[in-house]
Amino acid sequence: MRISSKITKAINDQIAYEASSIYAYLAIGSWCERTGYDGSAEFFFEQANEEHLHMLKFIHYLNNAGVETIIPATDKPQAKFDKLESTFQAGLRSEQTVTKLINNLVELAEKEKDRATYSFLQWFVSEQTEEETLFETILQKFEIVGRDKLAVYQIDQSLASIRSEIMSKDTQQQQQPSAN
Ligand code: FEO
Repeated sequence: MRISSKITKAINDQIAYEASSIYAYLAIGSWCERTGYDGSAEFFFEQANEEHLHMLKFIHYLNNAGVETIIPATDKPQAKFDKLESTFQAGLRSEQTVTKLINNLVELAEKEKDRATYSFLQWFVSEQTEEETLFETILQKFEIVGRDKLAVYQIDQSLASIRSEIMSKDTQQQQQPSAN
C-alpha cells in the first residue's frame, strides 16, 4: 500500500496528539483520584486507555504501510483544576480539537484520492461523535443535577452508567439499517 508523504506526516501528527491526550487524561484522572472523585478518576483512566488504543491504531496503520512511525515526546499536561466540571470542559475541548484534526485528515485523504486511508479514518469519525456526545452529556448533568456538593457527588458516581448508556446507543445506531 502506498501512502503519500503528506498523509504520513498528518498521521504522525495525529499520533502525537493522541499521545498527548493519553497523558492529559492520566493527569486529570490523578487529580480526580487525589481529590476524592473516584468515579471520575476511573472515567478518565479509561479515557486514557481509549487514547492509547487510538494511537496504536494509527501506529499499526503506518507500520503496515511500511513508512516511518514517529513516537513523540509529549508536553507536561495540566495537572490542577479548580473544580470537577472544569475537567470535563477540558475533555470536551480536547475531543473537539481531535474531531477537527480527524476531519482535516479525511479531507486530505479525499484530496490525495487515498481510498484506503479514507476508509481507515471512518472508524475515527464515528468514534469522535461518540466521544463528544459523552462529554456533552456529562456537562449537561451539571446543568440538570446541579453544582452543589451532593449534586457533584451524584454525577461523579453516575459516570460509568452514563458511559455505557452512550456506548450502547451508539452500537444500536450502527446496527440500524440505513434509511436509503
Ligand atoms: Fe483519540 Fe479522544 O480522541
